[in-house]
Amino acid sequence: MKGLILSGGRGTRLRPITFTSAKQLVPVANKPILFYGLEALVESGIRDIGIVVGDTRQEIKDAVGDGARFGARVTYIEQEAPLGLAHAVLIAEAFVGGEPFVMYLGDNLLRAGLTSLVDEFRATAPNAQILLARVPNPQQFGVAELAGGRVVRLVEKPTTPASDLALVGVYMFDRHVFEAVQAIRPSARGELEITDAIQWLIDHGRVVVPRIIDGWWKDTGKLEDILEANRLVLDTIDRRIAGEVEGSEVLGKVIIEVGAKVVQSTIRGPAVIGKGAMIENAYIGPFTAVGDHAIVRSSEVEHSIVLEGSSITDIAGRIESSLIGRQVSIYRAGTKPRSYNFMLGDRSQLGLV
Ligand code: DAU
Repeated sequence: MKGLILSGGRGTRLRPITFTSAKQLVPVANKPILFYGLEALVESGIRDIGIVVGDTRQEIKDAVGDGARFGARVTYIEQEAPLGLAHAVLIAEAFVGGEPFVMYLGDNLLRAGLTSLVDEFRATAPNAQILLARVPNPQQFGVAELAGGRVVRLVEKPTTPASDLALVGVYMFDRHVFEAVQAIRPSARGELEITDAIQWLIDHGRVVVPRIIDGWWKDTGKLEDILEANRLVLDTIDRRIAGEVEGSEVLGKVIIEVGAKVVQSTIRGPAVIGKGAMIENAYIGPFTAVGDHAIVRSSEVEHSIVLEGSSITDIAGRIESSLIGRQVSIYRAGTKPRSYNFMLGDRSQLGLV
């Protein structure tokens, strides 16, 4: 059995972060989202993994390499443009080579591993197995309609959803999916939709098995989803202090990585402080991930993600519910006249008090 991770696409809802980097590499609890999917596939016994890449191919290749450190063998599959999830399947046919496979959307995060679902798919060998989750906002997902425990209809982002069952971004297929992705036509938004391909399988008498998952699942396409994923993952960490702590209070589930320094500060977990980071005379509140080599000095940060190499210095108000990119500096300008000095990328969002 093979794995296929989709890591192309554009990530427009996470601009400006995704102007310069892939949305699948935004870290959650200091680990790129993509790595959670890779690890879940490997844990379920899948070693041969194809990764579909687009414009951000180089960055993904630099981060994942040949897959050896995950215990996987990774093959990159180039998609010339984000023409849809079913298009990604279409171009992966040679890689998949007729074997059953698990397709995993590179921006999805699932709490429960995949092992029991993959074992079940292997044992029962339906043509497809889809995962569903109950959501309050089904309009934003592919939505399934079930009857008598079977899937009867799938609609991509319906305005009036027939149920609250969203398609989770993990799908299992056998080789018949290739007939489907060849037969369907682009949707109104110009993409070859995987929902249409699965509907094609149903309409042609193939066996499509639904599994409703419990436990959390997150599509991390938007800021609030990333922050929530960060919160959910941080909630599961164990305390581990490998860095230096001096004159500080470190409470609860906190990871302080090697080379990090915490001086005259309070850290209230769950929180993670990356390698070589510096926290000085600061407060780091619950559900915060501070990236490698980031600096927080004389400032307060809570429920936020600060990416590697950024610095936050002498800020009076607490920074909350924020995603701060790489190499960003936020500081108090000491000069007169008292004024704000900004250099913000396109589509940055700045909330001032
Ligand atoms: O997250 C679950 C949802 O994912 C499902 O409920 C929907 O049915 C499904 O269509 C999909 O919706 P999204 O609009 O969230 O898909 P998105 O465009 O964000 O793409 C998902 C991942 O696949 C993302 O990591 C980018 C990658 N991708 C996307 C496209 C369109 C590719 O690699 N190639 C592509 O052509």
